[in-house]
Amino acid sequence: ARLTAHRGALLHFLTDPGEHDEAGAYEYFTDGLLLVADGRVQGLGPAETLLATLPADVEIVEHGNGLLLPGFIDTHIHYPQTEIIGSGGRQLLDWLSDYTFPAEARFGDAAYAREVADFFLDELLRNGTTTALVFGTVHRTSVDAFMQASQSRGLRMIAGKAMMDRHCPENLRDTAASSDRDNRALIERWHGTDRLHYAITPRFAVTCSDAQMQAAGTLAAEQPDVYVHSHLAENFGEIDWVHELHPWSRSYLDVYDRYGLVRERSVYAHCLHLDDTDRARLHEAEAGIAFCPTSNLYLGSGLFDLAATDAAGVRFGMGTDVGGGTSFSMLRTLGEAYKVAQLRQQTLTPLRAFYLATLGGARVLHLDDRIGSFRSGNEADFVVLDLAATPLLARRSAQARTLDETLRLAMTLGDDRAIRRCYVMGEAVERAA
Ligand code: GUN
Ligand code: FE
Repeated sequence: ARLTAHRGALLHFLTDPGEHDEAGAYEYFTDGLLLVADGRVQGLGPAETLLATLPADVEIVEHGNGLLLPGFIDTHIHYPQTEIIGSGGRQLLDWLSDYTFPAEARFGDAAYAREVADFFLDELLRNGTTTALVFGTVHRTSVDAFMQASQSRGLRMIAGKAMMDRHCPENLRDTAASSDRDNRALIERWHGTDRLHYAITPRFAVTCSDAQMQAAGTLAAEQPDVYVHSHLAENFGEIDWVHELHPWSRSYLDVYDRYGLVRERSVYAHCLHLDDTDRARLHEAEAGIAFCPTSNLYLGSGLFDLAATDAAGVRFGMGTDVGGGTSFSMLRTLGEAYKVAQLRQQTLTPLRAFYLATLGGARVLHLDDRIGSFRSGNEADFVVLDLAATPLLARRSAQARTLDETLRLAMTLGDDRAIRRCYVMGEAVERAA
């Protein structure tokens, strides 16, 4: 197979740099080569030494002043909510009834669902995100449309049909039996097809009856490599409602746990209002958290506790949570994550932030043996950052003396304009207009 060498600055993570930027957690080459063949990473290193060792017919792609990073990983997003991003003036429960549910009602229409899925994936790729854990709507067609759109782009994506059989509009309700049939049919059709995976997706404890949660847990036990994806402890009104519905529960997490939904490959969005017993349980189960700062700020839900999450050793990644979140951009999301940490008198270093957006996300999804870093053999999904994309970013980046300063500027000032190009399995993605 033909070898391609991408030349530019290269950064990827070998492990979590942690709160104090442990040395050896990453590899950085100011003038590096990333070797790709058959869609996979073959190696990387400094251009100076590697160039001499390459076969004569190697194709060299010059990225100039670009910074190559593994593709970003979004651990929580709703593709149908592309249609309501920026709908405000509400907190969670009213936002769901006034904007979200009416918009989601349209996704029984396969052609409409496909059109939104195509727009959504173009937008993710424009922002350098190559893998995401994605909510569909209650409609089976919404997942078929999303999977088809992902498959045609060759993307590694995880998605599931939202399960919701109560406390939501009549026209958006499934049943415990119908959701179980749909899940099984969708797993059969999509899980393990090309680069696609399925997630059992109970919307949240409020909208799922005991029978539906029970069915979700039974399926999760039968299918250990299928994901479980839901929302947890986001908003006080939501939490009170869950306690009313399940007076026996020790905590909101305990409800999911009772039904066997807390396990490896379970990912819970938000987790703003947990206690240390909950965190210890998530750690023990090797379940993950999606930290969604723009959503948490926009919906006024609360401030994620990074320090407590780290102290308990719970794995977490970054989520945009579009459309409660306000941006598809992982750079914007990291910028807001930094501000959330500041409001809690905590720290999020730039290195940690870019770890969370790449390898950290892959670890939450248990996909770090395939994506999230430039480890040899990994799938060559990567982005090229342009740190001179806008006049201000260019001016400030030219003044940066360290990698830390450069990354801090990218996450503070950068957005989709700073994503020059995106590669999927070694192939450049054509930018949608
Ligand atoms: N909880 C239940 N459904 C949703 C949703 O669509 N978005 C968010 N942010 N929280 C939820
Ligand atoms: Fe969400």
